[in-house]
Amino acid sequence: MKRTYMATELTLEQEGQQVVLNGWVDTRRDHGGLIFIDLRDRSGLIQVVFSPEVNREAFHLAEQVRSEYVIAVSGIVRKRPAATENPNLATGKIEVYVEQMEVFSPAKTPPFYIEDGVEVDEILRLKYRYLDLRRPEMKNNFILRHRVVKTMRDYLDSQGFLEIETPMLTKSSPEGARDYLVPSRVHPGEFFALPQSPQIFKQILMVAGMEKYFQVVRCFRDEDLRADRQPEFTQLDMEMSFIDEEDVIQLVEEMMTLIFDRGIGKKIATPFKRLTYDEAMSRYGSDKPDLRFDLDIVELTDLVREVEFKVFSSAVQSGGVVRGINAKGCASFTRKEIDELTKLATDNGARGLAWIIVTEEELRSPITKFFTSDQMNAVLHTMDAQPGDLLLFSADTVSTVARVLGNIRLELARRMNLIDNNELSFVWLTEFPLLEYDEEEKRYVAVHHMFTSPRPEDIPLLDSNPDMVKARAYDLVLNGTEIGGGSIRIHRRDLQEKMFALVGMTMEEAKEKFGYMLEAFEYGTPPHGGIAFGIDRLIMIMAGRNSIRDVIAFPKTQSASCAMTEAPSPVSSKQLRELSLLIREK
Ligand code: AMO
Ligand code: AMP
Repeated sequence: MKRTYMATELTLEQEGQQVVLNGWVDTRRDHGGLIFIDLRDRSGLIQVVFSPEVNREAFHLAEQVRSEYVIAVSGIVRKRPAATENPNLATGKIEVYVEQMEVFSPAKTPPFYIEDGVEVDEILRLKYRYLDLRRPEMKNNFILRHRVVKTMRDYLDSQGFLEIETPMLTKSSPEGARDYLVPSRVHPGEFFALPQSPQIFKQILMVAGMEKYFQVVRCFRDEDLRADRQPEFTQLDMEMSFIDEEDVIQLVEEMMTLIFDRGIGKKIATPFKRLTYDEAMSRYGSDKPDLRFDLDIVELTDLVREVEFKVFSSAVQSGGVVRGINAKGCASFTRKEIDELTKLATDNGARGLAWIIVTEEELRSPITKFFTSDQMNAVLHTMDAQPGDLLLFSADTVSTVARVLGNIRLELARRMNLIDNNELSFVWLTEFPLLEYDEEEKRYVAVHHMFTSPRPEDIPLLDSNPDMVKARAYDLVLNGTEIGGGSIRIHRRDLQEKMFALVGMTMEEAKEKFGYMLEAFEYGTPPHGGIAFGIDRLIMIMAGRNSIRDVIAFPKTQSASCAMTEAPSPVSSKQLRELSLLIREK
């Protein structure tokens, strides 16, 4: 019995028609004389009805089917009797009166209900992912994902981009995350790496004259997993020649406008906001600030330089900063709540979290006694403190204070319910530092990556003051998540070599790792730049989910394994021998 309609294609217009439907038994209700089945296919649900008077055999078969059986029914579309309409169903005004039925396959009882909002352990959902994906909310994520990726491809095609594939088996260049390695059978003892991104290949495609490249591409990074990080994830990767920052920004804003309109019917306003890295770090304590709420961090360093409170004054003396946040209206926080915030601060490296509760009558605080009234008034004024407010302070190095107050800011927004989940707040982050000093490795590392161009006016500082050099890099942040990042690249061999040297590579190392790129640069390289988006993160936000696992069909668990296939798994000794590998006993 071959399908003639999808379930939700049927309306009153087909009343009286003979139709064939295929799908899964969602629910079955036996009302003695009649059996009702909600039949589910990808489009949704429709009620089909069995009566012994129409076909006794089909009725008896319907008595035996259970949830998730796969069936075909043939019957007549009928208007439901007035009182039996179901307003919750798109097809709630009609039903199909079954004349014939066939069971394609039976089904075991699923380990969880196939319905939205089930509360089951995620590992179980991942083990039975094919059942999890039958749930409408999950299925819809993949319909959205398909639509978004198609919009990206259509838009970039219309702008003259070519989609070009780059290798999955490539050269290891550990930087940033760890590589996933693939042993070579043909070259014993040698390894391919799975790409962390197609960065170098896309740049070489610019040398090759492709001018506008994109790719929807899998990337692999062996790093600690979080809700928005997977070991394999998908990028929309792009690169263009003869362009500058503004070209990339304009193109991306136009593409995002289309994606949000076609994907979820939301109009977004352009141009997006922009913030420099320095501004974002000092005002929001993060390079991916969530701008759906204010709670700005306030600079107090100069005001507390002389105070008697040693925690503050000595932080300033040793080159650190003192900053605060005014948690408006939070004077009612209990000691327990303040202790929880303090714990969050210390978990982020703080040595404490000073606080002042402002009431009509008094300032309640362990620290006010160390301030003159002028000093205190200046702080209260700068923080715009009003009765009812709770003021929180952090004193430490610039980076610790930013991290601590950045996290306190997010936590306060959650506790104060300041986040409007319907809002979309895009912001471009610009003027990143090119390099930062890595205390552990005792060397500079690239903030974006080593192929990012410094601002031309900063090139003289590369030798004297590398910390001061700004990069031609930009990140796109949406609701506090970094959804994309890119830069204008270095396109000259000498500058690229200098960059390798600055991050501590010897000439030999640079040649061994990136010689092919340096050589390519000598054959006529256009100025170029690009960006890459985390498609999983973008879809996660569009779908209103909290984890990218919900928008990846077969994601890895928190411990980087696949609950369904149980990969990774041991391999046979024959396979190991062929690869010249020996597993060391622990
Ligand atoms: P970057 O490393 O910033 O840039 O990656 C681009 C975007 O990819 C997403 N992303 C991830 N998503 C899920 N899981 C992960 N483990 C993960 N890691 C990154 C983020 C991020 O913004 N080659 C450069 C781009 C360029 O310079 O053009 C790159 O890969 O949303
Ligand atoms: P103490 O004098 O150590 O009892 O600290 C007084 C208050 O200052 C307490 O509320 C501490 O949590 C807080 N505090 C201690 N160190 C810091 C710091 N580095 N930054 C901000 N507050 C701090």
